Amino acid sequence: MLILGIETSCDETAAAVVRDGEEILSSVVSSQVEVHRDYGGVVPELASRQHIQNICPVVEAALGKAGVTLPQIDGFSATYGPGLIGSLLVGLSYAKALAYALERPMVAINHVEAHIHAVFLEHRGTEFPALAMVVSGGHTSLFYLQAQFSYQLLGSTRDDAAGEAYDKVAKLLRLGYPGGPVIDRLSPRGNPKAVVLPVAKISDGSLDFSFSGLKTAVLRWVERSNLLEEEDSEAKQQQIYDLVASFQRTLIKSLMGKITKALRLHPAKSLLVGGGVACNQALRKEFHSRCQKMGLKVYFPSLELSTDNAAMVASLGYYKLNRGEAAPLDLDADASLRLA
Ligand code: KG4
Ligand code: ZN
Repeated sequence: MLILGIETSCDETAAAVVRDGEEILSSVVSSQVEVHRDYGGVVPELASRQHIQNICPVVEAALGKAGVTLPQIDGFSATYGPGLIGSLLVGLSYAKALAYALERPMVAINHVEAHIHAVFLEHRGTEFPALAMVVSGGHTSLFYLQAQFSYQLLGSTRDDAAGEAYDKVAKLLRLGYPGGPVIDRLSPRGNPKAVVLPVAKISDGSLDFSFSGLKTAVLRWVERSNLLEEEDSEAKQQQIYDLVASFQRTLIKSLMGKITKALRLHPAKSLLVGGGVACNQALRKEFHSRCQKMGLKVYFPSLELSTDNAAMVASLGYYKLNRGEAAPLDLDADASLRLA
């Protein structure tokens, strides 16, 4: 069974063809990074316009790379939330139109669930119960999975998402966009213990996250040390490396702290991590080492399947269609769609 997946929830226009939910025949991602770079973040209106321009060539490229034609596709799968409403509408409407014209079923996918599913796409036999963490530019959530497709939300961010914190810190330090990959690359040059930054404590004991305090602490530190006002110097450069390394260490510590706390309440056999921030090298290393000590298996998707892509959408669509979960063609996009 061939599924064409379409993903346009944020700033990547993506299409993929996946056979029987497992075999990725093609996965095409058109990035809009250049369009948003000057603004240091995604501009929703520009993102939707860009999706409209990209959607036809991206779908055609996915079909071409897979060596299949539209009539051979058995079903269409598209992200319908959460995300930017204008962006979501482009991919969802396109998938609906194809499904209608070709008289094939359409399935609507939750983007956060797709990020978790990306782990299953590459790792068979993950053990349950499991904890799943989605850390991206738009989401930071922790789930408990009794079994595959069964989600209990344990906590989510109360302010910025983890990736958003990376992007905002990089923006205030004028390091470029997107901030995550830049800080990932620069951090090994700094001392992660050089700057003491606060780990947000949520007083009601919940498993929610908060990163805006950390971002503000970085800003205050920059202001106090006149970091951006002084002349360029080697010493100043080193201070920036130390600061981003410390920021990254604090953020990872805060994520790991929530996982440890969640495990006490919800014992699990494995930890699944998805979303763009799951590409982070320091995070992968720290999670592997901490989980090994706790006897917890940890699974990450490959880098290509950690960031936004349509293969995860097509694969999840296959399982949903097989479970009879086709979507009606009058289904609307839902910018704040929840999982669980
Ligand atoms: O999953 P994703 O592609 O899109 C959303 O669903 O938001 O995630 C994008 C986010 C951006 O904030 C980006 O800075 C962050 O993931 N990111 C990283 C890394 N690569 C991407 N953050 C930290 N380290 C990375 N290597
Ligand atoms: Zn995403």
